[in-house]
Amino acid sequence: MENISNELEKIKEFGLYRDLNVVENVQGSHVKIKSKTYVSFCSNNYLGLANHPLVIRAVKDAVEKYGWGAGASRLISGNMKLHEALEDEISKFKRKESTIVFPTGYMANIGTICSLVSSGDLVICDRLNHASIIDGCRLSGADFRIYPHCDTEKLESIFKKSSKYPRKLIVTDTVFSMDGDLAPLPDIVEIARKYKAMVMVDEAHGTGVFGEKGRGVIEHFNLNEKVNIVMGTLSKAIGSLGGFVSGDIDLINYLRNKARTFMYTTALPPAVCAASIAGIKLIQKDLSLRKSLWHNVRYLKERLKLLKLNVISSESPIIPIVIGDAKKAVNVSRFLFNRGVLIPAIRPPTVPDESSRLRITVMSTHTKDDLERLLDVLEDVQRQI
Ligand SMILES: Cc1ncc(COP(=O)(O)O)c(C=O)c1O
Repeated sequence: MENISNELEKIKEFGLYRDLNVVENVQGSHVKIKSKTYVSFCSNNYLGLANHPLVIRAVKDAVEKYGWGAGASRLISGNMKLHEALEDEISKFKRKESTIVFPTGYMANIGTICSLVSSGDLVICDRLNHASIIDGCRLSGADFRIYPHCDTEKLESIFKKSSKYPRKLIVTDTVFSMDGDLAPLPDIVEIARKYKAMVMVDEAHGTGVFGEKGRGVIEHFNLNEKVNIVMGTLSKAIGSLGGFVSGDIDLINYLRNKARTFMYTTALPPAVCAASIAGIKLIQKDLSLRKSLWHNVRYLKERLKLLKLNVISSESPIIPIVIGDAKKAVNVSRFLFNRGVLIPAIRPPTVPDESSRLRITVMSTHTKDDLERLLDVLEDVQRQI
């Protein structure tokens, strides 16, 4: 245990220690911590659905009808009506034949990648893909190649040397979670077609946010027919919990039979599925949610241009301000906190060394006053750094 304590001290010394805040009210654009209210600019609850009255109603009704726990894995006796209803709802939403739901997005990525490729195959990954994709690639046992962020020339050069592999898989985030930019999907899909590789996309931050109907970045680029493995999470814009993969029936039946993170874990509580169904329905019905989200994003980005901060130009509601040094980023985050704004510092290993940052995420429920308050505090930050 002494080694553990020493390592912990080192983590602190480098400014990389993580503390937990305790939120004492509901997850909205304002959160209460130690009885004080903060404007939150760090939640993935983009559309405010985690706390929407229709979602809460759906959960209460489901608990009345089905109780809470699922009691077993899906393959034993835990597969309940609402799991099936959720999978059907996602398939319709994502315009795919079939869907498999996992307890989390993390588990969806691990289970799917490890089912699709193994020793003797090739898996290729953008350098800034989410940790769950990287972990899935490592665990799969396949030969694992990483290309520099969004560099399709390097991607193609990897494929040029890939003829010996029987199965090839490229996996990419559609919206990169720490930079907020989009993958060059049309090019990726074209390169994969040329080299006969499978394409898997992670729509964690695309679902509910991009596309005319909120179906994701694939809809935005009109690539639904060309991408056959679509992963997403129910925990961000949908405001609930769980991960999913949508695709053709054979793919989904294959995953039901192969994905260990689906087979060997207890099914989600049915009321969680009810929340997700309600969230997906709201995304399709209430277009004002997405409209106000994008209105806020555009407003904030325009105003941020006037500040002398290192704001990375992004294409999504994720707006990073790169500070660099981890300790400095923590200090800036603390400054914001003292002024009533919650944006924890994102530091290595979540982002590369010397690129610690404030990662702003905008919500549809932020008011103009909320945005002005953030801008006011950032103006003071700019004077200090
Ligand atoms: C791109 C991406 N993929 C996957 C996940 C994991 O999803 P979940 O939180 O549902 O496990 C996340 C969330 O952190 C993410 O940002």
